[in-house]
Amino acid sequence: MKTAELIDITKDYLQPGTANSTRVLDHISLSITEGETIAITGPSGSGKTTLLNILGTLDQPTSGKVILGGKNVDQIDEKQLSRLRNRFTGFIFQLHLLLPQLTVLENVLLPVMPVGDKLFRKEAGLRAVELLERVGLKEHLSHYPAHLSVGECQRAAVVRALINKPKLLLADEPTGSLDARNASILAELLAELRESYDYSLVIVTHDSEVAKRMKTHYRLMNGKLTE
Ligand SMILES: Nc1ncnc2c1ncn2[C@@H]1O[C@H](COP(=O)(O)OP(=O)(O)OP(=O)(O)O)[C@@H](O)[C@H]1O
Ligand SMILES: [Mg+2]
Repeated sequence: MKTAELIDITKDYLQPGTANSTRVLDHISLSITEGETIAITGPSGSGKTTLLNILGTLDQPTSGKVILGGKNVDQIDEKQLSRLRNRFTGFIFQLHLLLPQLTVLENVLLPVMPVGDKLFRKEAGLRAVELLERVGLKEHLSHYPAHLSVGECQRAAVVRALINKPKLLLADEPTGSLDARNASILAELLAELRESYDYSLVIVTHDSEVAKRMKTHYRLMNGKLTE
């Protein structure tokens, strides 16, 4: 079973102030199998973030198809799409983007709020505590992000991305703001948690140590993706 698929994707951006457009993604296809781990590298501006955002339905391609969990995202309505995005995918960004006015525990539970199912929400509460303990944040559940280190915030962001048990975890340079040691801890954690959470992982990274831990390695350059 495939977790997600990109079929013949192109993405053009209009050049500001002109009628010209630039092609950032040039007929890209990518198939992600269950539990697969993928690293994507490529020069700055090559379209890695654009590709990841299209995969996570945060952005739309100019042409081509995006299939998530067997569903063509073009063929479902906005409500179904936001539900799919919330439940099926998890995102980790370069900067953790935790909300400063919420505690660590409240932050990681944010993606659970739109989920109607009461039992699921209760389970998520227990899962949040268990996961936060597992990533070494047991002492910080009720602390605010400002009182945590960047590495700790990034681990909390990993828990937030996993709280709805996504099948597809998308990470855009998640170790970009960390030192070598913390980058290694985070990469290790993403590999380790996959054992129990069973997600497919697509990670954009400049860090060859992080990339090496992934099964498949793609390079994005001149609009093309090569293995
Ligand atoms: N909303 C937008 N409008 C116009 N051009 C854009 C937009 N978003 C991105 N681009 C352009 O598309 C290209 C790819 O951007 P993208 O952010 O995907 O690159 P990237 O590979 O993630 O780079 P980096 O490694 O620096 O994060 C860049 O040239 C960028 O300027
Ligand atoms: Mg980027």
